[in-house]
Amino acid sequence: MISQYQESLLLPARMFQSVSMNTTYEDVLEHIESGIMLFDEEGVLVFVNKQMYAFLELARHSLLGCTMTHLLANIQLSRLKRKQVLRAYREMVRKNKPTYEFIDEYGRYWRATLRSGEQMKGSYLFILKEISDYKLIEQTAYQNDSLAMLGKLSASIAHEIRNPLTAIRGFIQLLHPHLHQLGKEEYAKIILAEIDRANDIIHEFLTSSKPSVPQVSMIPVSALLKEVVLLTESEALMKGCQINLHPLQGDMIISGDAKQMKQVVLNMIRNAMEAITERSDDYIGKIEVGARREGAEVRIFISDNGKGMDLCTLDRLFNPFFTTKENGTGLGLSVSDRIIKNHGGCISVSSRVNEGTRFVISLPLIQ
Ligand SMILES: Nc1ncnc2c1ncn2[C@@H]1O[C@H](COP(=O)(O)OP(=O)(O)OP(=O)(O)O)[C@@H](O)[C@H]1O
Ligand SMILES: [Mg+2]
Repeated sequence: MISQYQESLLLPARMFQSVSMNTTYEDVLEHIESGIMLFDEEGVLVFVNKQMYAFLELARHSLLGCTMTHLLANIQLSRLKRKQVLRAYREMVRKNKPTYEFIDEYGRYWRATLRSGEQMKGSYLFILKEISDYKLIEQTAYQNDSLAMLGKLSASIAHEIRNPLTAIRGFIQLLHPHLHQLGKEEYAKIILAEIDRANDIIHEFLTSSKPSVPQVSMIPVSALLKEVVLLTESEALMKGCQINLHPLQGDMIISGDAKQMKQVVLNMIRNAMEAITERSDDYIGKIEVGARREGAEVRIFISDNGKGMDLCTLDRLFNPFFTTKENGTGLGLSVSDRIIKNHGGCISVSSRVNEGTRFVISLPLIQ
């Protein structure tokens, strides 16, 4: 017997022959994980399952009997969904690509597949599958691979960079008495401290495949941010940016390795300055730095009005060696991410092309 439902789908009864006594192919298609949409040889949508209309956020009855043009013109179809369907259609039907991958507005990954031609007797079958889990595994494997490679490279590079730094350190110490006479002893102190920090950073960067032992201490967030802003202010001015350090509410203390924390905030401010200088239009670059308490956590934010990032960049941001800069190493954020995770925190980011970027570092507070 043909059900009312099959009739409404205008499908020949043989398409829904029994799989077993009580189950039809229709039931099977309704309950599989992938979304399915079938257009007949006239281009009319004759079948759509639950996963597919749930993805489109439309009712089944508003889809059946439509052509692709009708579907795209449906006023209930959101702007973002319309864009996704249109892109998938262009890639697969117009450009003849068998699959198309995309990220939806909720950050989920999807793979659309098209089956057509003789095999489908003139019909077009669209299959949609969520692949967020595969992507996560793929990304983790890629990060692990890159980190292993980084570990191998580290020994030789560290050796090469540390040697000149040691020489510079020695000469600054020799110059120390002369600078003292000139009343500029402070300069030597700053240079020595910065060389030491560079040495630590090299060590940290280049051994980032091996977990290092953090030197744990209590860090007042306000002191941490003040110090980093002080270090970067002059560089920012030269690059035409203003750094605005927001006043903090109360004393917020975190526990961790102060040098590593400084390195993370420095990385982000440097990225912000670079994003501002890479933006071509003539405007004042602004970097906002601050922190606020959120329950038992502190949220440190660094936002800029630089060039921003597209989805593709956002997606690979924390991968080791991912960089869009000619002279970048692509290690800044991957190392920062690892440091913050080691401290029980996390980094989140939001960005818009040509508007700017906001990084938020969440860390547990000492109660
Ligand atoms: N504030 C930002 N605005 C725009 N793009 C950013 C920002 N921060 C990071 N990015 C993007 O993320 C990429 C990776 O950043 P990351 O700090 O890891 O490496 P990098 O800055 O390219 O090189 P380096 O190792 O010298 O830091 C950058 O190349 C850039 O494309
Ligand atoms: Mg960087």
